[in-house]
Amino acid sequence: MALADFDFVLFGGSGDLSMRKLLPALYARDKHEHLPDNARIICIGRHHWSKQEFLTAVDQNAKPHVTNVDDAIWQRFCGRIQYISLDATNPATYRPLIDALRAGSELVRVFYLATPPDLFARICHNLAEVELVNANSRVVLEKPLGRDLASAKQINAEVGTVFTESQIYRIDHYLGKEAVQNLLALRFGNVLFEPLWRREWISDVQITIAEELGVGNRIEYYDNSGALRDMLQNHLLQLLCIVAMEPPTDITPDAVRDEKLKVLHALKRFDAVTLAQNVVRGQYRAGHVDGNAVPGYRQEGAPSDSRTETFVAVKAEIDTWRWAGVPFFLRTGKRMADQLAEIVVRFKSIPHSIFAQPTSSFLPNCLVIRLQPDEGLQLNLMAKTPGDRMRLKPVELELDFREQFKIPRMEAYERLLLDVLRGQLTLFMRSDELEAAWEWVEPILNYWEQEQTEPVSYAAGSWGPAAASALIGRDGLQWREEALPEL
Ligand code: BG6
Repeated sequence: MALADFDFVLFGGSGDLSMRKLLPALYARDKHEHLPDNARIICIGRHHWSKQEFLTAVDQNAKPHVTNVDDAIWQRFCGRIQYISLDATNPATYRPLIDALRAGSELVRVFYLATPPDLFARICHNLAEVELVNANSRVVLEKPLGRDLASAKQINAEVGTVFTESQIYRIDHYLGKEAVQNLLALRFGNVLFEPLWRREWISDVQITIAEELGVGNRIEYYDNSGALRDMLQNHLLQLLCIVAMEPPTDITPDAVRDEKLKVLHALKRFDAVTLAQNVVRGQYRAGHVDGNAVPGYRQEGAPSDSRTETFVAVKAEIDTWRWAGVPFFLRTGKRMADQLAEIVVRFKSIPHSIFAQPTSSFLPNCLVIRLQPDEGLQLNLMAKTPGDRMRLKPVELELDFREQFKIPRMEAYERLLLDVLRGQLTLFMRSDELEAAWEWVEPILNYWEQEQTEPVSYAAGSWGPAAASALIGRDGLQWREEALPEL
């Protein structure tokens, strides 16, 4: 579908996210001829830069994040960019933006707020005050969307006085990943899994997002946030929703979001006792990643007594007929042993072995949906080994999406930015979803704050604290990497 002409206004235009992700994503879509001829990108920042100075910064900071730059197309892309210096908190400084925006009822106007969340409401009010918001305007809100339920509600309420819900795009870039959308395809485009996708056949679900990197130069943000707010409240819970939701009637935004919301509402609430049993928080100490010595979190610029968690593991349960009693283990951490994001759906063991092999030697079937590094699906089965004996061994069926579909990939932000420009909301969070997610994690945050306990430490380059293995071990289970057979 060809895009309508647009003005894309990027608040936080000189910031890290714009340079690393947003401008490269827009360039990539330009290269694939998705952007209309006259589409423009208006970057807003506080630096008093000329357009040329800003473009030099884009060359230095955004271009290195583009793969296969085509210089002619890069020049064309830069030709779309304008730079405006203004104080986003002060509407009296908005004149250059008012002058820059084009009028026209067909023209889509996107305001992308790649700024700290405490500016969201101010900027929206200011845009309304200077009369820049019209029926064709959309606002995109980057995470973190608040730091607790109250602040999220306040952002929703205030932004909601300026934009209608159908104009608000709350971004969670995990929903833009190919493999996540493939999970929708797998679940609702095939009959094979649906009858098995329930408590009778599934033993447990594990969702892991592990990063080898530490917090790098984001310490100021991260130390105020931590893994629960940074990753679990949004990315991990969104993945859980897609795994656990009932089939929506269609792929329209509200049909999908209604089903995700029901999952969030059905998550079993924690109290002080269940919380201590089902949540592990950790912080990395010095260790080795890929054979290189790396410092601990507190040596990377965090306060020496910081209690911020860089790892969190949670056993969640969903109180519905489909899922009652099936544990969903969620885990994420920085400086872990590997860089991967995957969803593991483990089926129950066979009830009885007819072979001369004990039931315990049968590895339960397991479906692995790999989000990164290489998007794919893996199904673990048991098969007979060749020869005259009836001896069964685990084997893997692999589907590598890159091999299967040899067409250029879209980064998550490319896909989501196109959706914003097309006015397609299915992969964005609705206000009630966001609040329901905060509602569920908030007791954990409060408990940590009241208890004033320290996170348990784990060595950088490991799979997290031993307490995370104990958490899953209590159900007689193991994390996937612990359960892999030695081949
Ligand atoms: C971001 C978090 O939302 O997701 C980062 O703020 C994290 O801390 C990043 O590193 C991970 O995203 P991806 O796509 O690289 O797995």
